[in-house]
Amino acid sequence: MDHFLYKNGALFAEDVAIADIAATVGTPFYVYSTATLLRHFTLFDEALAGMDHLVCYAMKAASNQAILKTLANAGAGMDVVSGGEYLRAKAAGVPGERIVFSGVGKTADEIRLALTGGIRQFNVESEPEMEVLNRVAGEVGVMAPITIRVNPDVDAKTHAKIATGKSENKFGIPIARAREVYALAASLENLEVIGIDVHIGSQLTDLAPFELAYQKVAELTEMLRSEGHNICRLDLGGGLGIPYARSNEAPPLPIDYGKLIERTVGHLGCEIEIEPGRLIAGNAGCMVSEVIYVKSGEGRDFLILDGAMNDLIRPAMYEAHHDIVPVIEPAPGAEQTPYDIVGPVCESGDTFAKQRLMPPLAAGDLVAFRSAGAYGAVMSSEYNTRPLIPEVLVHGDQYAVIRPRPTFDEIINRDTIPEWL
Ligand code: LLP
Repeated sequence: MDHFLYKNGALFAEDVAIADIAATVGTPFYVYSTATLLRHFTLFDEALAGMDHLVCYAMKAASNQAILKTLANAGAGMDVVSGGEYLRAKAAGVPGERIVFSGVGKTADEIRLALTGGIRQFNVESEPEMEVLNRVAGEVGVMAPITIRVNPDVDAKTHAKIATGKSENKFGIPIARAREVYALAASLENLEVIGIDVHIGSQLTDLAPFELAYQKVAELTEMLRSEGHNICRLDLGGGLGIPYARSNEAPPLPIDYGKLIERTVGHLGCEIEIEPGRLIAGNAGCMVSEVIYVKSGEGRDFLILDGAMNDLIRPAMYEAHHDIVPVIEPAPGAEQTPYDIVGPVCESGDTFAKQRLMPPLAAGDLVAFRSAGAYGAVMSSEYNTRPLIPEVLVHGDQYAVIRPRPTFDEIINRDTIPEWL
């Protein structure tokens, strides 16, 4: 459930009319609902209530500090994957002891940044990384708490570009080699081994792959404990999927995911961490765009929007579906016509949907891309010198611009011209 609903024929974010935001902020823009962010966070928090746990929001999904602060105030930790994300989480007020550092290619500089500023744990992904972490921790003069990310060789049954748990993926160490890698970690004097990490992919719409992976983690926990390792924390990653096509998708609920966690690893008495991103932010955000032209082509009509692939890349990159709804509610039983819905960027890949049934729309009408809160604004670019679009956060009947639209001058003046020109 989310808080984007039609009221008296107009789409609202909580108690704010989307059209009112468009009138002041201009289009396109992203809009997020505080109540939806908090609801999704709470669903996870409650699903794990029976266990010692921390929900570490995977901030790569939507990393505006206002979003981070909203979630951190509710008790969330953060999962970061770069020095930039670490600093952003800190800037939003998240203490180091609630920040987990994931990622397959942490540099020595990023590691130093986190060790100096404080960190809950590093999720280490390889032996070379472990050696660098050990060296830098020695230089900084601290013990680095670590889990090791294991690759359980489980098929997450999701889009190939976002599956991470098969042995051919670059992530983690093969679970079959875990014993020797943990032994190496235990021998490094500046590392403190505290647990195991696993993340098998994103937008999982079936619980079975999680079950398989977590069973393997449970077996590994017992085995490593028998070898003398102090495994007291399990980071079970993120990945629970969301309904993108609302009419026909119903992915598993956080409550059932929580039961699965309890069933597979609950008996081990470990502290549980999870790293959900998409489920918290995805349906808490929309991208709102205006129709610039309706163009009749050969046998098809195009809706040309002012939003483009640089603003929301998911359809171009993953063939992702986003529901696209008019901001003025269509009359019940209104006629629907197929449109190709496209942006203004000069490539055919700038297509959001093909032959999508929509009520008749005209230039100047607003549409909202649903489920765009996760991996939307964060993946946007300035391709075609199109400014990054603003982000707006709604809270009840209030809203605030949480990232303004840059001016053309700000964009253009970032270039510097070498002196020989
Ligand atoms: N933890 C780790 C280590 C991850 O790599 C990810 C996502 C997450 C947690 C959060 O997964 P989530 O709960 O959001 O599924 N850009 C793609 C998604 C990439 C996901 C990358 N890793 C998209 O737009 O679908």
